[in-house]
Amino acid sequence: MLKIAVCVSGGGTNLQAIIDGIKAGTITNTEIVLVFSNNKNAYALERAAAAGIPTAVRSPKDYASRGEFNREFYNVLTEAKPDLIVLAGCLVVIPEEVVKAFPNRIINIHPSLIPSFCGTGFYGLHVHEKVLERGARVSGATVHFVDEGTDTGPIILQKPVMVRQDDSPQSLQKRIMEQAEWVIMPKAIDLIANNKITVTDGKVIIEDYDPDDLF
Ligand code: GRF
Repeated sequence: MLKIAVCVSGGGTNLQAIIDGIKAGTITNTEIVLVFSNNKNAYALERAAAAGIPTAVRSPKDYASRGEFNREFYNVLTEAKPDLIVLAGCLVVIPEEVVKAFPNRIINIHPSLIPSFCGTGFYGLHVHEKVLERGARVSGATVHFVDEGTDTGPIILQKPVMVRQDDSPQSLQKRIMEQAEWVIMPKAIDLIANNKITVTDGKVIIEDYDPDDLF
């Protein structure tokens, strides 16, 4: 059984997709042992509570320094003993000690096709604003392992979504969530839980990979 800790900051629709996937059996061999939030008002916490999942809330604002918060973040996560940490709309910059403690055992969902529209400052609606400003015809989402950089870790799965000429950042965000994020995040967890993923030379190899038959 793959034990996962899911880190959230907001609405938690990706968390919900994981909860639903486990319930429906599209994600197998997986148990959520903790939902961590840096924001006590995150609706994701209500989703976790409704599913009977333990939660932990720690806000950087309540600590004297970033270092103190980072140590607490590390302690809370390691005490839950997860096999995998899942960043599902988590706005906390993951401390280096956590990245080092979980090599290729942290995954993140990013709402664009990396390496486009990613890196520092590309989060939330900003990503979709930049896509529309540039006039890109296609965007999408990426699930990747987390390394010391920002959105630089090995790519696990990607799914494209076509951009419409009448899209607003909000409409594009919504379609990318529905068509890509809620599909590839559960799929990536299921692949990891079933030992289908290895990382070699910074690249992900998926056993029996058939891109035409994946989603
Ligand atoms: C998603 O767009 C995700 O890609 C980004 O933050 C958003 C989180 O949404 N990292 P939710 O909290 O899962 O609803």
